[in-house]
Amino acid sequence: MDYIAKLFSLEGKNIIITGGAGSIAGVLAAELVKAGARVCLWGRGTNHPVAEAVERVNAAAGRPGRVFGVTVDAGVEGEIPRAIAETEGLMGAPNALINGAGGNRGKGPFVDVDVDLFKEIVDMNLLAGFIVPTKFIAKYWIEKKIEGSIVNFTSMGSYVPLSGTWAYCSAKSAILNMTQATAKEFAPYGIRVNAVAPGFFIGHQNKALLIKDEASGELTERGKAVIAHTPFGRFGKHEELAGAMIFLLASAASGFVTGVSLPVDGGYLVQNI
Ligand SMILES: NC(=O)c1ccc[n+]([C@@H]2O[C@H](COP(=O)([O-])OP(=O)(O)OC[C@H]3O[C@@H](n4cnc5c(N)ncnc54)[C@H](O)[C@@H]3O)[C@@H](O)[C@H]2O)c1
Repeated sequence: MDYIAKLFSLEGKNIIITGGAGSIAGVLAAELVKAGARVCLWGRGTNHPVAEAVERVNAAAGRPGRVFGVTVDAGVEGEIPRAIAETEGLMGAPNALINGAGGNRGKGPFVDVDVDLFKEIVDMNLLAGFIVPTKFIAKYWIEKKIEGSIVNFTSMGSYVPLSGTWAYCSAKSAILNMTQATAKEFAPYGIRVNAVAPGFFIGHQNKALLIKDEASGELTERGKAVIAHTPFGRFGKHEELAGAMIFLLASAASGFVTGVSLPVDGGYLVQNI
């Protein structure tokens, strides 16, 4: 047991999680704390207040003093240096970043693409969900000689097209490319960049697309299509993402792993006929 505990321990990891008040981030944050990490949830504080998320994660993790929160829009360059300084004051120098901000908004035929909404979704997933926080954190780590670790969220849409969600898939396939590109760029500094690619997990941002009636659990046509296409025949449970995330963050387990995107998808990507 000692060997396994050492291999996967997150003791000494101070992890920023953007989109920290979100569904997946909330569950993952508690699991990371159980594995020994300190986490600082970065959220905009608009739909989901950060203080409430901190309380929820604290209760779920059961290790007080390890969960912190900072209100910040991860897509606004001018806010990030202040957020990093605030985070440093709360939990010490951050040495890991999970880019969790993101999500989809609806779907529709390509010929009806709303260009303003398209830009908004790309801004949320690619700029707030990767480019902006990564730029500042990587600069901070390079200056301070911190061998940090970044984990992004890719998606099934990074690998194969998902119908109707054009902007989301554009941004998520770009994140897969950027994960590889920045892994190479930052390797000389000992900074690793990887991604977790969830299959379909019910979150705030995709609930309406997949579930028709929450009370009965009745699925939309798209929800049924997802299940039919997933060899495991179900949606994922958020806790099922924890193992992949802990592996990618734990230096002893994955210190030589960089530039990969690890699918946790019930076999979605290996579907055949
Ligand atoms: N749920 C799934 O099935 C699934 C599948 C593949 C990938 N993902 C990805 O996982 C991540 C988390 O998804 P989720 O399902 O928990 O979604 P969620 O909507 O529950 O959480 C996303 C959070 O990001 C926040 N956010 C958005 N823009 C932000 C910004 N500019 N600054 C700060 N916070 C911001 C939102 O307010 C929200 O709290 C997203 O990147 C999503 O695309 C989810």
